[in-house]
Amino acid sequence: MMRKTSCTIEGMIPVKTIEWRGDLDGAARLIDQTLLPNEVRYLDVRDVETMWEAIRMLRVRGAPAIGIAAAMGMVLAVRDCPPICRDDFVAAVNRAAAYLNSARPTAVNLSWATRRMQALVAAHPELTIEDLKERMLIEAKAMVDEDNAVCQAIGRFGAALIKDGDSWLTHCNAGGLATAQWGTATAPIYLAHAAGKRVHVFADETRPLLQGARLTAWELQQVGVPVTVITDNMAATVMAQGKVQGVIVGTDRMAANGDFANKIGTLGVAILAKEFSVPFYVAAPLSSIDMQLESGDLIPIEERPPEEVSEGFGRRTAPPGVRIYNPAFDVTPHRYITAIITERGIVRPPFRDGLRTLFQHTSTP
Ligand code: MRU
Repeated sequence: MMRKTSCTIEGMIPVKTIEWRGDLDGAARLIDQTLLPNEVRYLDVRDVETMWEAIRMLRVRGAPAIGIAAAMGMVLAVRDCPPICRDDFVAAVNRAAAYLNSARPTAVNLSWATRRMQALVAAHPELTIEDLKERMLIEAKAMVDEDNAVCQAIGRFGAALIKDGDSWLTHCNAGGLATAQWGTATAPIYLAHAAGKRVHVFADETRPLLQGARLTAWELQQVGVPVTVITDNMAATVMAQGKVQGVIVGTDRMAANGDFANKIGTLGVAILAKEFSVPFYVAAPLSSIDMQLESGDLIPIEERPPEEVSEGFGRRTAPPGVRIYNPAFDVTPHRYITAIITERGIVRPPFRDGLRTLFQHTSTP
């Protein structure tokens, strides 16, 4: 029996990950995710250097959210430019894009967003510099609304795959905290929950920075979705025990053939899902799909500081001086994917053809 619910979808998600407050003199407000789940604190970011640091240090993280953060960072970078020479203004816009792109290399949403701001400026030679600044702010704010619409569309397509009574497993956080509000991998779960389906989530803890335990579990709890945290090495056991009916993850960058980068450990989960015949879904907005890359080998993988592994959260867990390897993402070959859930619909193999068709009528910045 499906649970009856009076929950409205709009009122479900209590957190706004990132938004712009005020007019051009305002600030980008973001929730500082390094403090969760212990403290909910918002940061008002007023300059591009602080935004770069927030992206680099994962105060704001998750591919779509860092895209929006970068777009807002572009506004912060140029809002005080004097209205003198258009060439100087364009140069400042381009410098800001390169600077923000350098904060993290893997998620393509970052450069997708900065390119979109550059394209906007290039497309309007008739506008004054003051008008261009206003237009850039409108564009950055529009990305928040678009992201909500995209995630909700992914949610509608994905929710149809979830059956009443299912348990789904996810890795890292591709939730509301990784987007403006809804999440890509969580939107189907939120919508299934709102429709009265009983759905339970296993959240992989996600070493080394614990996005699953700290963030996914926290946001699912806020919405009232039943969630169980497991350490990463327990995923095989829960699948072997028949406790998982589906896996859903997000992506930082998907290549044209469907290979995709996501948080380190995703590849292992995908291999397990195949072994235990559990369907494996990737929630991927078009902004995370890089059709310029033929395959996943070409995706740049961020390596992060060794201390995240050896003394994460303030306690040493490996001997001083030991060698540490800390890639933040891995690449899962497309053969492990059952289907890709996009805002335009569900893509099944062969993925190269399916993704090409999806992009046929889309102009990308
Ligand atoms: O290092 P993070 O926390 O930014 O990694 C985030 C992920 O790997 C997410 O799964 C991915 O960005 C998709 S978010 C919708």
